[in-house]
Amino acid sequence: MAKTIIISNRLPVQLQIDNGSISAIPSVGGLATGMKSVHSEGESLWIGWSGLTEEEIPEDLEDDIDAALAEHGSSKVKLTAEEVDGFYYGFSNRTIWPLFHYFLEYSEFELASWETYKAVNQKFADAILEKADKDDIIWVHDYQLMLVPRMVREKRPETSIGFFLHIPFPSFEIFRTLPWRAEVLSGLLGSDLIGFHTYDYERHFLSSIRRILGLEVSFNDIYLDDRIVKVDSFPMGIDYAKFSEAAKTHQSLPKKEQSELQRRLNKHKESTPDAKFLLSIDRLDYSKGIAKRLNAYEYFLNKYPQYKEKVRLIILAVPSRSNVPQYQLLKKEIDELVGRINGELATVSWTPIWYFYRSMPFENLIDLYTSCDIAWLTPIRDGMNLVAKEYIATRTDKTGVLILSEMAGSANEMNEALLINPNNFEQIADTIHRAIQMPPKEQKSRNDVLQKRLERYNVEKWANDFMRSLTDQRDKDPAYVTR
Ligand code: ADP
Ligand code: G6P
Repeated sequence: MAKTIIISNRLPVQLQIDNGSISAIPSVGGLATGMKSVHSEGESLWIGWSGLTEEEIPEDLEDDIDAALAEHGSSKVKLTAEEVDGFYYGFSNRTIWPLFHYFLEYSEFELASWETYKAVNQKFADAILEKADKDDIIWVHDYQLMLVPRMVREKRPETSIGFFLHIPFPSFEIFRTLPWRAEVLSGLLGSDLIGFHTYDYERHFLSSIRRILGLEVSFNDIYLDDRIVKVDSFPMGIDYAKFSEAAKTHQSLPKKEQSELQRRLNKHKESTPDAKFLLSIDRLDYSKGIAKRLNAYEYFLNKYPQYKEKVRLIILAVPSRSNVPQYQLLKKEIDELVGRINGELATVSWTPIWYFYRSMPFENLIDLYTSCDIAWLTPIRDGMNLVAKEYIATRTDKTGVLILSEMAGSANEMNEALLINPNNFEQIADTIHRAIQMPPKEQKSRNDVLQKRLERYNVEKWANDFMRSLTDQRDKDPAYVTR
């Protein structure tokens, strides 16, 4: 039977070796959490990097590593430390990530890391060619693998290939600064279908196709000599049932089975009944606007001093890409900001910010989502932002307010949230005040609409829509029809 081959840099789990024993920890990030739900649904194989470099895998553990990944329906692409450095920390995260998030000043254009990116993309393409049967559908994910579609197409012209970009596609004026812009576009055009989270990203991409490659574009079809490539937007959903069921189970837990975190949250709520928890959860990434958010929080507390000792900001920042200098600098900046704000404003009974810099188990994420009155997410740019959707899905009694940056892809589908510009501190302060004061009836009517929408367009529907569109496209492809 034909299967789907999912290819992304990250697998659903990352492996670690400790004293000769292998453990698998869930990968963090929207791509992994979203695709994991789709992957476990049906017949698919997931190809990617295990998180360990070749140098870190002792020869006698190779088979155990493969077996550990096979348990997650996955197979690995081997990468050396040097490849990880040039491909992952280099071109992917020091060139493309900042550029596509409009942090042009952070983008480094280095020939050596571009060369490694090409070579590693070829490794991924080779792994696909080795594992894929003739009728298998290939689904390539994200900015780390933009050359893979063409590399596979060259060897297997009749194969059905889809590509989905999980981050924004920037405007032409930004994208054109990339020295290898034509190669990147041409790599993507090996696909039959290219998907984006939003219509704007799709529009930016088509504009670059026209202006850089001079190709004919009609509506969302790109005309090549021998094929048509379709481009469309598919806003990624979440596993709604998983989050809402987890929240229900969590709320019915007897006290003694609650987590330590939940008990602490309860204790604080009991001691200050009119206290409000504001929550933000992100990977520690400059695109998420965490430092700005901290400054905005201080601004809010100064503008509305009546909330001092009442409001608490809980920040969960998950360690990410810590070998990249910009991430190290940001970590330092956030540590200092949290220290300064807490130092200046704390009283004996109140700490304005609780800051966690770690990855937490799923149960603790649910503790936070269900206990916090307001989720406050302020990305400066974000392809989608699934945390916003997860928060709403866990609000089983329909209370809770979402304050969301209009720069997040998810803002397009979440108009009932309180949308803010992350650079406008005045607006942010007033919006937090409004969120705190919002009557439960209004919270419920907003969340009711949001929940229905998220439940309907969940991650499974998203994947099915993409797949349906891809197979429709394949059936129109002359190379496939005449093979
Ligand atoms: P990004 O993909 O840029 O990291 P998203 O908000 O789209 O941002 O996705 C983040 C994903 O990572 C969410 O699905 C969220 O549940 C998950 N996540 C965030 N924090 C943690 C954590 N501490 N532990 C495990 N998963 C987390
Ligand atoms: C974003 C990207 C993913 C990436 C994730 C985590 O969601 O779109 O491709 O996997 O961040 O980042 P990391 O670098 O740890 O894989």
